[in-house]
Amino acid sequence: MDSSPFSLEGKIALITGGSRGIGREAALQFAGAGADVVVVGLDLPDLQNVAAEVKALGRRSLALEVDLTDSEQIFSTVARATTEMGAIDILVNNAGMGLTERFMEGKIATWTKLLSLNLLGHIVITRAVLEGMIERQSGKIVNIASDAGRAGSSGQVVYGATKGGMIAFTRNLAVEMSRYKININCVSPGLINTVMWNKTRQVTPKLAEAYEKTIPWKRLGTPAEIASAILFLASNKADYITGQILSVNGGVFIGG
Ligand SMILES: NC(=O)c1ccc[n+]([C@@H]2O[C@H](COP(=O)([O-])OP(=O)(O)OC[C@H]3O[C@@H](n4cnc5c(N)ncnc54)[C@H](O)[C@@H]3O)[C@@H](O)[C@H]2O)c1
Repeated sequence: MDSSPFSLEGKIALITGGSRGIGREAALQFAGAGADVVVVGLDLPDLQNVAAEVKALGRRSLALEVDLTDSEQIFSTVARATTEMGAIDILVNNAGMGLTERFMEGKIATWTKLLSLNLLGHIVITRAVLEGMIERQSGKIVNIASDAGRAGSSGQVVYGATKGGMIAFTRNLAVEMSRYKININCVSPGLINTVMWNKTRQVTPKLAEAYEKTIPWKRLGTPAEIASAILFLASNKADYITGQILSVNGGVFIGG
């Protein structure tokens, strides 16, 4: 039964990093709204568990392992998803890796991996999925950035650069894809209670505490609260919204 005000009935969605956290919640909310869902990323057993949860909600689902830092794997994964499930209507670029460090202590090998996943990987999978969307002149893409890409903070320089890149990618691609009636939007989470944020808390507890103190709502966000924003932007209620960045952050003021 579709209890969601945002229907995705008849749609096929592909969600990267769908094994846990925000990606898993998006997969479940999408299924609740009537979509069939392909979850891709690392950790095949976890992805398969999420696919089983989607199926339990009465939708079709497929779990595919892919390392998003590998372009060849990305193209073959999208081809397989399309063959087995059908044309992709919605792409959610959610997979990601966190990094909190002092800039001058950073390692170039780590930055290369971060850029390959958090920025280039999404650009490449978008290219692969857009071919079908352009043919059909329809589609919705929701990118997941971070407020670290919108506002400056100590310790998130290169992570923030990857997310700022996703924001610029969203704005530019949205304009270019408007002629095909494809919406490209971006959800920019604040601090969300997931494995990623809990790792930051372990590695840099003082910095994490300082960030958390800035939240007017005095609590972390939940993956479900981010997934709801993704669902809205993926639905036809957002047909006239494109190139926009929606912060979901418990009231932190982001200027500009
Ligand atoms: N948690 C937060 O506070 C927060 C804040 C702002 C933005 N975000 C962003 O939200 C998104 C989801 O984060 P989350 O908090 O759910 O994190 P998470 O660590 O729980 O999940 C990350 C997902 O990405 C996948 N992944 C990692 N490396 C991959 C690779 N090389 N190839 C394919 N998949 C890979 C993981 O398997 C996992 O499914 C990320 O883009 C993250 O940067 C999170």
